[in-house]
Amino acid sequence: MDPSKVFYGIFLLIVLSTRKIFQVNCDTEETMGPQTKRVAPVLKQPKDIEEVINSYLTPNSKLAILLDYDGTLAPIAANPNITSMTVEVEKALHKITSNPKVFAAVISGRGIVDVQNKVGIKNITYGGNHGIEIQNPDGSRKDYELPAEIQSNYTELVHDLRRQLAKNGAWVEDKRVSLTYHYRDTPADKIENQRLEAIRIIESHGFRANQAHFAIEAKPPVNWNKGEATKFILEQKFGKNYANEGNLKIVFAGDDTTDEDAMRVLQGIGRTFRIASDPKMETYADYRLPEQQLMTPLLQYIANIYKD
Ligand SMILES: *[C@@H]1O[C@H](CO)[C@@H](O)[C@H](O)[C@H]1NC(C)=O
Ligand SMILES: *[C@@H]1O[C@H](CO)[C@@H](O)[C@H](O)[C@H]1NC(C)=O
Ligand SMILES: *[C@@H]1O[C@H](CO)[C@@H](O)[C@H](O)[C@H]1NC(C)=O
Ligand SMILES: [Mg+2]
Repeated sequence: MDPSKVFYGIFLLIVLSTRKIFQVNCDTEETMGPQTKRVAPVLKQPKDIEEVINSYLTPNSKLAILLDYDGTLAPIAANPNITSMTVEVEKALHKITSNPKVFAAVISGRGIVDVQNKVGIKNITYGGNHGIEIQNPDGSRKDYELPAEIQSNYTELVHDLRRQLAKNGAWVEDKRVSLTYHYRDTPADKIENQRLEAIRIIESHGFRANQAHFAIEAKPPVNWNKGEATKFILEQKFGKNYANEGNLKIVFAGDDTTDEDAMRVLQGIGRTFRIASDPKMETYADYRLPEQQLMTPLLQYIANIYKD
């Protein structure tokens, strides 16, 4: 046999089989990879939520429930100072957190003291600054350490923003490791300039600028987010193997892109809910809730299971 033909045959075989492998890989990644965003089933009615909750939780299962605050526990208000939970949500949350089978955490972009005061329930682990600071009910804390250079850039950033852009009704909320530049009281014709200038200053200090509701958030350039915080909180409470603990159920709800990190971490090991009105929005969550008000029945059904 002609050796060059054999060589060519082997070459062809290799090419074909690698193509096959690549194709399989692509398929898995696009359609069934555990880390994929897609349009999630929507729960429009309280009875849809009841079905999901009742088929997942039983009074005997342990529950870890992790929640966002703004836009999730409380509706978004024009001024973040005046947000609050409805009486029904507060009642349900009190009931849930007083059951010994339940562990509860609230993780927010607010500073930790701010979110603790807003929720006002003692028996909860709080995460502030998207989980950069974490405090347990017994007072123990975990503070993600910013590298020294980022911390010193932060101090300068607060200083520069205040000096140059705290004007025309705009102000800087200093949350110790991240900040929010608020301009909702700024006259309409001045907003665009100040907004763009704020983003420029934030980025010149190496921070990430995110658009929020009449505000720009400046976050430190670190790989710590609500997903990492969620993992940390669950490991600290239930051990490294929390995902394989058969009797532990995990529920998460949030309304924002920053919550997606937690939903991704919890894919396949809990029930996660993304509040969003856009029917085409892609998410890591298991379900979409089209409006914040549906958090009330969600929490009430859970409270009902853990009523004790
Ligand atoms: C509430 O709003 C005022 C100005 O409108 C601001 O000075 C204050 O820091 C705000 N408090 C919080 C917690 O955001
Ligand atoms: C607080 O929660 C723990 C479990 O996380 C529970 O054992 C305890 O009874 C709760 N205490 C109160 C006062 O609700
Ligand atoms: C800190 O700020 C300086 C500019 O003031 C910038 O060159 C540097 O990259 C920043 N450091 C980090 C870690 O982002
Ligand atoms: Mg939110």
